[in-house]
Amino acid sequence: MRIIQCKSQQEAIETVASMVVEKIQSHPASVIGLATGRTMEPVYASIAKQAEGTSFQKCFFFMLDEYVGLPDGHPSSFKHYIRTHVINPLKLQESQFSYPSTHYEETLKESGGVDIQLLGIGRNGHVGFNEPGSTKNSRTRVVKLTEETIEANRDQFVDQKIPSEALSMGIGTILDAKSLVMLATGKSKADAIKYLLNHHDDPKCPATFLKSHPHFTLVLDPEAASRINLNI
Ligand code: GLP
Repeated sequence: MRIIQCKSQQEAIETVASMVVEKIQSHPASVIGLATGRTMEPVYASIAKQAEGTSFQKCFFFMLDEYVGLPDGHPSSFKHYIRTHVINPLKLQESQFSYPSTHYEETLKESGGVDIQLLGIGRNGHVGFNEPGSTKNSRTRVVKLTEETIEANRDQFVDQKIPSEALSMGIGTILDAKSLVMLATGKSKADAIKYLLNHHDDPKCPATFLKSHPHFTLVLDPEAASRINLNI
């Protein structure tokens, strides 16, 4: 596990964005796993900024998760999020994106696998929508959201009808990616990051399962790193 402690939130955002842009510049047919959430919004803006002159036409993208039961185009769906923050600004085609479905595992395999999987972290240590109690070998499936996660994401639902289930890549699915890049910013993630660094393979914090991946990079801003003490 590689930890990059950044001097500012902006530096952390740009660090993650540059990893994606550099990958696409060196391998135009890269397969990128995308995460949603507030943490990732500025990353996509930074990718668009840094990528001027870079072609994304040969890339393919897999989404990490999606709510169950939202109509297509719902403003709080992750599909809508991706259109707003990735597809439209980068002028990409819908056909370059795949969203969690019942045949997701096969589709992932056929693509040759994800080269870089972007990840955020929930306050309770969830990854994608792999809530506490998820297993290390879990695959793409329908999951029940915890009250804590529903509460944390409430402000993204203008009409207040928040789905209680989601489709999410499993921890095992995420571990299949060739490299993992997790970004945590802000004070609200400081406890989860502390727990992540102090525990291993702990179902109470599914993010701990990712530490066994040979290419797992954790990028932190000063607030997310405020409860850890790394002498680096
Ligand atoms: C959400 C998403 C995750 C995301 C996490 C943190 O529920 N399913 O993919 O990483 O929670 O979200 P945020 O970045 O908004 O704090």
